[in-house]
Amino acid sequence: MVPMTSTKGKTPRESAVETRYLVMPQQANPQGTAFGGAIVSWIDMVAAMAGQRHCGCEVVTAQIDTLIFRHPVHIGDQVILRAAVNYVGHSSMEVGVQVIREDPYTGEQTLATTAHLTLVALGKDQKPTAVPPLLPETPEEKRRYEAAKLRVQERKERLKTL
Ligand SMILES: CC(C)(COP(=O)(O)OP(=O)(O)OC[C@H]1O[C@@H](n2cnc3c(N)ncnc32)[C@H](O)[C@@H]1OP(=O)(O)O)[C@@H](O)C(=O)NCCC(=O)NCCS
Repeated sequence: MVPMTSTKGKTPRESAVETRYLVMPQQANPQGTAFGGAIVSWIDMVAAMAGQRHCGCEVVTAQIDTLIFRHPVHIGDQVILRAAVNYVGHSSMEVGVQVIREDPYTGEQTLATTAHLTLVALGKDQKPTAVPPLLPETPEEKRRYEAAKLRVQERKERLKTL
């Protein structure tokens, strides 16, 4: 097992998180579909867990982008949340999250929401601290790494203009 504080690096698989929620009425609007804000809070939570597992320290969310609500999620649906670290900089990590709705009776799955989050690792002094390298292994992990690298560069450029 790789220790949580490893500086040798980790594969995306080692820190990936998958969890489930049952969508309850208090998380929905009068049309019976989940509030965007509720979905974002699940996304933020699962991304933070993946980020913490990668760096073994406290993390904060610096940015959420490319948040796409592709399909509605209904009361009574199960949602599967998958988060994986796509790319790391010095102290920041890009985490990709997929929200999949599953019909509890038929088991049919639909990709409902996707997002990319930038998390920043904080040291004990609450300041940004270096994260371990990311070691993508599979062709899919390598594809995500290269795509995220471009997005990170674009974000840095965009931030300069804000
Ligand atoms: C995120 C935060 C810690 C960054 O602090 P900072 O002093 O700007 O840190 P730096 O300028 O040294 O940047 C640290 C890293 O974060 C990245 N970063 C900072 N702000 C960012 C933003 N808005 N979007 C994306 N990346 C960002 C930098 O590019 C840098 O990445 P790198 O180390 O991999 O090269 C600080 O802005 C903060 O605390 N924000 C509020 C977080 C929060 O309350 N979130 C909601 C609850 S979790």
